[in-house]
Amino acid sequence: MTQDDLKRAAAQAAIAYVPDDAIVGVGTGSTVNFFIAELAKIKSRVKAAVSSSEASSKLLKEAGIDVLSLNDAGPFAVYVDGADEITPHLAMIKGGGGALTREKIVAAAADQFVCIADASKVVDVLGTFPLPVEVIPMARSYVARELVKLGGHPEWRMKDGKPNVTDNGNAILDVRGMTITDPVGLETAINQIAGVVANGLFARRGADVALIARREGVATLKR
Ligand code: 5RP
Repeated sequence: MTQDDLKRAAAQAAIAYVPDDAIVGVGTGSTVNFFIAELAKIKSRVKAAVSSSEASSKLLKEAGIDVLSLNDAGPFAVYVDGADEITPHLAMIKGGGGALTREKIVAAAADQFVCIADASKVVDVLGTFPLPVEVIPMARSYVARELVKLGGHPEWRMKDGKPNVTDNGNAILDVRGMTITDPVGLETAINQIAGVVANGLFARRGADVALIARREGVATLKR
């Protein structure tokens, strides 16, 4: 079984959490791409999607699924997304794909957050994966100095040799060297830095359910 087989298995398991004729919140990343492929198979019973990135919106539209803006969607039942790291308590680091701010907003608006991941993403303590922080461009150096005071080693994210620009027009700092024993406290502290738009800790609002694909099958973890 390859890692892609495991991602697909987690994505398939998430379909059981999609109510009939519902609006579905859709995350971003390679695991979510498998979920979009599964959604396409049941699109006759999907009312529409709310998407967390331009990349996922494009795939959803190509699959024939309507994409609504969050402002037009109203309340909706479920948000499905991947993670870069997840603990057994369902706190996560996200944002490896750079979509953390919209992911956090769409997740916040959903009744239930279902995380889909292969077992390689499960950790006891968050922080081996560099923590993404989205910043307003003019605040980048200031925020980086403040993150150093919190014990991190921030690095400006590049893509194809140029500064990475998010869907919101902002920069990303990837922060290494954080051993995150208090994810809620650190998420809150980073949010207080002027110029931070969002950080990739999803602990204040973690997942409600995690579908973790292992070779032996998909395990369901609940808060
Ligand atoms: C994107 C994310 C993704 O959920 C995270 O990076 C996991 O991606 P993948 O499924 O490709 O491993 O947070 O911003």
